[in-house]
Amino acid sequence: LNKELEERVSLEVQKVKQQQQLLVQKSKLEYIGELSAGLSHEVNQPLGGISMGLDNILMRMSEGTLNEKYIQDKFRILFKDIERINQIIQHVRIFSRDQQDSLKEDVDVISVINNALSLVKMQLKDHQIDLHLDFSGKGSTVIGNPYRLEQVFLNLLSNARYAVEEKGRKSGDANYEKKITIRCKRHNEFCEIFVKDNGTGISRNNIDRIFDPFFTTKDEDKGTGLGLSISYGIIKEYGGKIEVQSSEGEFTEFLIQLPLKK
Ligand SMILES: Nc1ncnc2c1ncn2[C@@H]1O[C@H](COP(=O)(O)OP(=O)(O)OP(=O)(O)O)[C@@H](O)[C@H]1O
Ligand SMILES: [Mg+2]
Repeated sequence: LNKELEERVSLEVQKVKQQQQLLVQKSKLEYIGELSAGLSHEVNQPLGGISMGLDNILMRMSEGTLNEKYIQDKFRILFKDIERINQIIQHVRIFSRDQQDSLKEDVDVISVINNALSLVKMQLKDHQIDLHLDFSGKGSTVIGNPYRLEQVFLNLLSNARYAVEEKGRKSGDANYEKKITIRCKRHNEFCEIFVKDNGTGISRNNIDRIFDPFFTTKDEDKGTGLGLSISYGIIKEYGGKIEVQSSEGEFTEFLIQLPLKK
């Protein structure tokens, strides 16, 4: 009987593990969808730079005022733009790779945040969302998987963006200034990251449920309700914690605490 029970437990555990894996996969697909929207945005900027640079060179050529110094300077800028596009593509490619999931390594938290930001910065700007950064915790190293951690920040940023957009739409206040703040600092043996927005906030009724899988207040095509539950799992896995504070109609602030590498 004992053996039978043991087998059943291990079978159940395996099932849960598989389900979790499925959830992670599913949310990843959604992120890739969101990423690709951000991607075209991010690539467009350096692409515009390249196109303009080449135009400038052609113009000088036809005017007969092209000199070596000018070409050298322009080429330096062009290569920088190309490098930027390269980075973006490289980054997304690694991000969407599967086998990276189990990988754990030393992670520089600020780089992870900056990588996440590089994919959404332009979108925030386009939507007139002010982004404030306060990184006093420079050089904070934690142990984890950089891509999964990035997924956490992308979800927090996506939630924050949605919340400020929603408030902008609903409040009808012309003076409302959409704002997202990210802070990173060290506190004892922890790296603490705060992501705050002055969006819709979360109601008392909902706040205890936001980390539940499939809990969402968004339309079916806008959210699955998986973002925070996956994020919760990821942060727990690295020995950290994630908490929220919010006041409806005022703000929402997430705190992530991750143990610093010793
Ligand atoms: N910054 C925020 N401001 C206001 N509400 C929030 C914020 N972040 C999360 N929420 C609330 O928590 C719910 C769950 O968030 P979660 O990220 O898990 O799922 P989702 O954003 O709805 O969907 P998904 O992330 O799967 O696309 C949201 O639907 C929203 O009601
Ligand atoms: Mg979300």
